[in-house]
Amino acid sequence: MTRKLRLAVLISGRGSNMQALLAATQAPGYPAEIVVVASNKASAAGLETARAAGIATAVVPHTGFPSREAFDIAMDAELRRHDVDLVVLAGFMRVLTPEFINRWPDRIVNIHPSLLPAFRGLHTHERTIEAGCKIAGCTVHIVRPELDDGPILAQAAVPVLEGDTADTLAARILEQEHRLYPSVIRAIAEGRVSIDGMLARINEAAPTAQPLLNPAP
Ligand code: GAR
Repeated sequence: MTRKLRLAVLISGRGSNMQALLAATQAPGYPAEIVVVASNKASAAGLETARAAGIATAVVPHTGFPSREAFDIAMDAELRRHDVDLVVLAGFMRVLTPEFINRWPDRIVNIHPSLLPAFRGLHTHERTIEAGCKIAGCTVHIVRPELDDGPILAQAAVPVLEGDTADTLAARILEQEHRLYPSVIRAIAEGRVSIDGMLARINEAAPTAQPLLNPAP
């Protein structure tokens, strides 16, 4: 049997994307496994979910280190201790240093709740609504040193509806995050991803050209 891709999932809070990944990895034949769930916050609710599922957890409290670099070195050591292949950021709300990122070249992925390169940073849902966007979504990308930047692996789009609040829009996007992230991790584990500079490509069996129009004509 070929070795499964060993994932570290980094969280700072609820951990619903981690939970979606966990469910995916539990399905027969999924080519990746979560070997550790790590957080910068001991209070992250997702840690309990991971523990209940028998997954190793690690807390590296960012407040316990004198600098960003020192925190990143401790997190790096934790990941190496678990022989991690791919670092999966799932609601991990810490900016990583370029040194950390360069130690994991093209081996860190992130999910961001906007259609990048629009709306990098925080408060994406509020900003999407304020900008009058009719379509929103989420992006999975390879992490590079610039914030919310790096080759785009996949995106999912949803309509922004009349009367949406940040919360209703976030919930609609989150549902797609939970579908998108496991499918991208599968593609990486199956060796179907190629990266050339800032461009990433996923080799897929049946590309779809289904458009999303909002409002529909
Ligand atoms: C998700 O919506 C994720 O896209 C977002 O935080 C949420 C975490 O939810 N990430 C970012 O904003 C990163 N810049 P979760 O803890 O339930 O997975």
